[in-house]
Amino acid sequence: MKLLFPFHASAIAPWRQHRYLSFLFGISQLRPEEKGKSSSSHQMTRRTFHNSPRSFFANDINQGIVPSPDGNAYLDIFRQAERPEFFQSVARSVQLRQDYLRNGCIFIRGGELIPILKGIGASEEDLERLKTISQILDPDPTVNFRTLSTGRFSVNTRAGMIERLQKQKFILTTADNYKRHDSDICRDFGELGEIHQNNTVIQAMLVFKAWVTQGVPVPARPGLNYDKDTVLTQVFNVHTFTDKDIQGYPALEGVHQDGCDHTMTVLLGSSNITPESGVTFVHDKEEQTGIQPHEANLGLLKGRYQHRDFLDTLLFKDNSVKHSVTPVYAQNKSDPAFRDMFVILSRKPRTEMHKSGQPDCFIPHEKFRKKFLIWVPPIQGSHTSCQLEAQE
Ligand SMILES: [Fe+2]
Repeated sequence: MKLLFPFHASAIAPWRQHRYLSFLFGISQLRPEEKGKSSSSHQMTRRTFHNSPRSFFANDINQGIVPSPDGNAYLDIFRQAERPEFFQSVARSVQLRQDYLRNGCIFIRGGELIPILKGIGASEEDLERLKTISQILDPDPTVNFRTLSTGRFSVNTRAGMIERLQKQKFILTTADNYKRHDSDICRDFGELGEIHQNNTVIQAMLVFKAWVTQGVPVPARPGLNYDKDTVLTQVFNVHTFTDKDIQGYPALEGVHQDGCDHTMTVLLGSSNITPESGVTFVHDKEEQTGIQPHEANLGLLKGRYQHRDFLDTLLFKDNSVKHSVTPVYAQNKSDPAFRDMFVILSRKPRTEMHKSGQPDCFIPHEKFRKKFLIWVPPIQGSHTSCQLEAQE
């Protein structure tokens, strides 16, 4: 597979640029108008190489990047191109995408995902940080058995950009196949802060998910605009606990859908839970919404998965199936039990016609500014705007 690589000018010393480009493209010179341009640490410049074998990007784009106060601005995927691990990550992700195309559901053990994420650019230090990152979350406004924080991102593989978006209240509707006491109401969750959005593992997860899901056909959800290139991706960090008279439920709503196109769930850690806790069941779409896992029809069961180890990850096409998760049971009843997860939901943008009555806001976040360039393997047809499964 030929790889086309846009160029992050600030990442590479000028004396190395020629060798870098020759390595990637076999080209010898920048276009004349590129010469003499300078780039600062506050600005990234993507350049288009018209001599390249496959010109993936059509236009030069100058994007202002605002580094975070700690200087840990963004995952710089373009620094990875000289590392064999990067190409191994690309190859393995393309294989996983094939599995996902075939089955609509993949389960990846953390032991396999970690090297993929490190190949994309995730750091060892940020992997360690994830193990305790769920200690600082916000109260859930509608249930007492969990804390959580969330952040919204636009992911545009055609433009090669991920950007943090302004906060917007979260709503899932009964029309989305989500039935519980807080269906159809706007929930005001706390927000992920710098410690989350600066974490290169989280950033690499967004890239990995974009790689695997790009161009994968999904059944259309009413009220989503499948003509848009942009994918709205929402990251939830959820700490579900059982303690004394509080019973923790990763999915109180029983059999449900998440109102999106692609759901990805990632285990960060757990403590004092029984082996029956936190089991995810994937059901046929015909299963009754709202029933608990133990009430489900086994004839409609499509899969059983259990996140056990750090970064065990499940990815499925949300509108192709329904899912449920067993409660968090304490092994030692006198001690608290908990299960920490990332839930990463992505879908095309909502329109005015969506049942929630809440179109998506794409205004960049004013406080938590974050924008970084991404690259995706140029898979034939994957950037076609509308990738839908045939309706039954
Ligand atoms: Fe869910």
